[in-house]
Amino acid sequence: MSVFNEQPPLINVKKFSLWLKNNYPFLKTKNFKLLRLNSERDINFLIKFNENKKYVVKISNPKESLKQLEYQDLLIQHLRSNRQLKEIYPKILHKKILFYEDNKNRVCAVRLLTYINGNMYAKSKINTSIEKSLGKLLAIQSKQLNSFMHSQAMRIFDWDPSNIIWVKKFLSLFSGFKKDVIIESIKQHELFVQKNKKNLKHSVTHGDPNDYNIVVKNEKIVGLIDFGDSIYAPSINDLAIALSYSLTQSQNLFDTLNNIVGSYNKIYPINDDEIYSLFSLIKSRLVITLVMAAKQRKKYPDNRYLSISEKNAWLLIFKLNKIDPYFFIAVIRSICNKEPIGNFSQRLDLLKSQKFGNIFDFDLNDVNKKIVNFDKSSILLKSNPSNFRLNNLVKKFLKNDIGIGLYKEKRKVYKSNHYISSLNPSKRRDIHLGIDIFIDETTPIRAPLNGKVVILHNNDFKYDYGPTVILEHKISTYKFYTLYGHLSKKCLKKLKVGQSINKGDWIGEIGGYNVNGNWPPHLHFQIMTSLLSEVDNFPGVGEEYLLKIWEQISPDPNIILKIPKTFFTNKSKILNVLSKRKKNIGLNLSISYEKPLHMLEAKDQYFYDENGRKYLDCVNNISHVGHSNSYVHEALVNQNLKLNTNTRYLYDIINEYSERILKTFPKKLNRIFFVCTGSEANDLALRIANNYTKANHILVMDNAYHGHTNSLIDISPYKFNSKGGEGKKDNIHILRMPDEIRGKWNAKNSKWINNYTNEALEFINEMFLKKYSLSSFFFESILGCGGQVVLPKGYLKKIVKLVRKNNGLCIADEVQTGFGRVGNYFWAFEEHGIVPDIVTLGKPMGNGHPIAAVVTTEKIAKSFNNGMEYFNSFGGNPVSCAVGNAVLDVIQNKNLQKNAKNVGNYFINKLQKIKKKFPKYISKISGRGLFIGIDLIENSNFDLPNQKLATKLINTLRLKGILLSTDGPYNNVIKIKPPLVFNKDNVDYVCSEINNFLLHENKK
Ligand SMILES: Cc1ncc(COP(=O)(O)O)c(C=O)c1O
Repeated sequence: MSVFNEQPPLINVKKFSLWLKNNYPFLKTKNFKLLRLNSERDINFLIKFNENKKYVVKISNPKESLKQLEYQDLLIQHLRSNRQLKEIYPKILHKKILFYEDNKNRVCAVRLLTYINGNMYAKSKINTSIEKSLGKLLAIQSKQLNSFMHSQAMRIFDWDPSNIIWVKKFLSLFSGFKKDVIIESIKQHELFVQKNKKNLKHSVTHGDPNDYNIVVKNEKIVGLIDFGDSIYAPSINDLAIALSYSLTQSQNLFDTLNNIVGSYNKIYPINDDEIYSLFSLIKSRLVITLVMAAKQRKKYPDNRYLSISEKNAWLLIFKLNKIDPYFFIAVIRSICNKEPIGNFSQRLDLLKSQKFGNIFDFDLNDVNKKIVNFDKSSILLKSNPSNFRLNNLVKKFLKNDIGIGLYKEKRKVYKSNHYISSLNPSKRRDIHLGIDIFIDETTPIRAPLNGKVVILHNNDFKYDYGPTVILEHKISTYKFYTLYGHLSKKCLKKLKVGQSINKGDWIGEIGGYNVNGNWPPHLHFQIMTSLLSEVDNFPGVGEEYLLKIWEQISPDPNIILKIPKTFFTNKSKILNVLSKRKKNIGLNLSISYEKPLHMLEAKDQYFYDENGRKYLDCVNNISHVGHSNSYVHEALVNQNLKLNTNTRYLYDIINEYSERILKTFPKKLNRIFFVCTGSEANDLALRIANNYTKANHILVMDNAYHGHTNSLIDISPYKFNSKGGEGKKDNIHILRMPDEIRGKWNAKNSKWINNYTNEALEFINEMFLKKYSLSSFFFESILGCGGQVVLPKGYLKKIVKLVRKNNGLCIADEVQTGFGRVGNYFWAFEEHGIVPDIVTLGKPMGNGHPIAAVVTTEKIAKSFNNGMEYFNSFGGNPVSCAVGNAVLDVIQNKNLQKNAKNVGNYFINKLQKIKKKFPKYISKISGRGLFIGIDLIENSNFDLPNQKLATKLINTLRLKGILLSTDGPYNNVIKIKPPLVFNKDNVDYVCSEINNFLLHENKK
């Protein structure tokens, strides 16, 4: 027989009052009343003299062991020895435990304690402060109990939520839904508590911090009473038990958990294992309450105390039953300031490091996309359309573009009760956890990485997912999941749960309105780091107030889709940008393409525009080592945060960089002047040359462009001979461009090079032998604006020799061609076996940062030092030098000169093949490395440069995501000069599209 089977003591109050007076001297002379207090198995009285003087006398169940009672006394004393707890527990007033014979002559132990004034938690209006105080007190208590041990605590006890297997015997007391809930809770107990119990920190526990054992006063907990259930058990039991009562009083479960668990954790941190078991411990305690109530009600139908909590317990367990235990764990982890999903950062990094395949048969970044908003700003939802009408509205809105529904968008479309938050019914689940891709019905969907099918289910409810596939992916030791919702029914037939799936495998197709849960056709794509306990569905929306948790359960699906970030953040639209530009900025800045591009970001050899569309950059040679290079960026930022000034102060980086860059030149070229742009470099070179030679006549190549300043327009036939140009000045002398296609002498003439060379030599002699004093000869080794024309072998060598003979300086403009672009050489002039007197650098030098330079000989530099200071506010500043240095690092570290050679040769060879195929349209492939030109003609006629075709080609390829430009005197040359990170796949793509274009032209 135990205390639970033995009837509580039967007491004659009058007789007992007398006994009290006789046995406790301080009560002898007093007049007091005995008021019965609630108890399950004992009899407790409140002894009341007046409002302030109250005591409690506890008459224990006759079956209660004395040792157990002595243990409880010791326990209270231990707890009271903690300063913070002293007032929380009653003071023991008896010196030793006395005994009293009840009406049935059973011997009952009697103890006398102080009474703690206040209201029971169960009867109080609970607020945040009380809940926080409870959490704090439970934590201090647990901490204090950790240093207490007693053999009496070692017992098996039915009210212990860490062991409820015994309740299985009583399942017959329940039926229907209630029984299901109890069975489900026991199952969870086995998994979350039993299996984990050995990992749980154990100690003596209070055992019963229920809402009738917690005393509240002045908005805080002032007492914790009744140690009758104290046992050695998992320390976290007490928190779970307290929650199983306090949550019954709460409308907002999350806030209560946050208050109680949060403040507990602050004082006595809860570890991962404890968090893992907490939810099930709460439910287990509720199960005990429910089983006990059902059991005892039969036996003692009059004992009100037994069933007092039953109703509340049912209500709470029903609520908790709606919460996924793994989600609850994540919530508690978050409350305890842990990552909601264990090792989340590590998992995320791992996921991000994967190479994903496309979800569709094409790259989502190769198409124009539009954002489909379903939030309160949504135009589509403005008229509050039915889902049927929404279907049509979306179709109309998108036209031919693909729609993107946003991750973490607070949506207005989830209206049913299904979306009420289980942890706080005043909130809803309305934050979208996936990315929607609105695309045509039947579009096939492919796995972005290897995995297996874990969920395959038709969630066939209005506004649900319809047919759904969830794949499991194992990466290292972690599992990830990807969800595909709103599919057609095909996947249900073609796939099987457990089936292995390879990256790229077909896993379903987009479902139509009638099968996909009644939505416009789209894919809901979501990533999960945990499947929670889901078996055929998964939440696609979460609560805003729990977003920190949802973000880790379902991180941004764009990790896999890789749509550029700016697509989501951009607010400005192309027409707006264009009209503002026209309003504010000089109109002779040209804009590429018939349909201008509004670029939002770029990386390596790719641009991304406002439609989130990717463009392969084949023309921006300034971004030499790739767009947005992080190494160069860091060098810039680091130096900018340290020091940026001008050359009038000493700093190391200018020396370091100068030494490095001069090493790339022939020894003779050993002095450098820093400027900011190619134009500045050429202007300075011109000044140096004029100063050195005391002359001002300049020799230039036809079609050359050397910069935009006054002095450089004068030496750029490309400019002064075109629209708006003022023609050639008298001191400028032009050499005919050796054009093997349609020049005075073409390649059909075996002596064409000699003819050009001899004509040039004659011209130089004629002009400068007697007539004019020559300052310099300006040249590019490959004429960019001339149409990527490589100067023929031997030509430059002879001209340079004669120029020098006429006292002129030779100035190589390497602004376009330098820094390894031509592949075989770092500088394009090297191919010609010459050493110029001056070399000018620019464009790629800073990968977009304005840095340029003039390199010359010691002698020439010395002569320029004529008393007039050369000062440049920005040229050669520490930041620019750091950037230049970093660019050299990347060229070296990534072997970019070699890449230019290999990929360039590959490109030229492929283009030669296309030329062979289309002699009607291509006359010549010119260039070196990744500085290439395609000369387009009409009808196989070399003399008919085809500007129209060139323009059409670049505009057509722009629509295919390829950026090219045209140049040359007839604008018929396709110019190719991509960032040097360009690869062979890029070449293949460009060539296949050029091929397609020409094929198409040919058919017309
Ligand atoms: C060969 C050549 N030299 C000089 C320049 C002028 O450089 P910047 O535009 O940096 O002034 C250019 C610009 O396109 C160029 O192509």
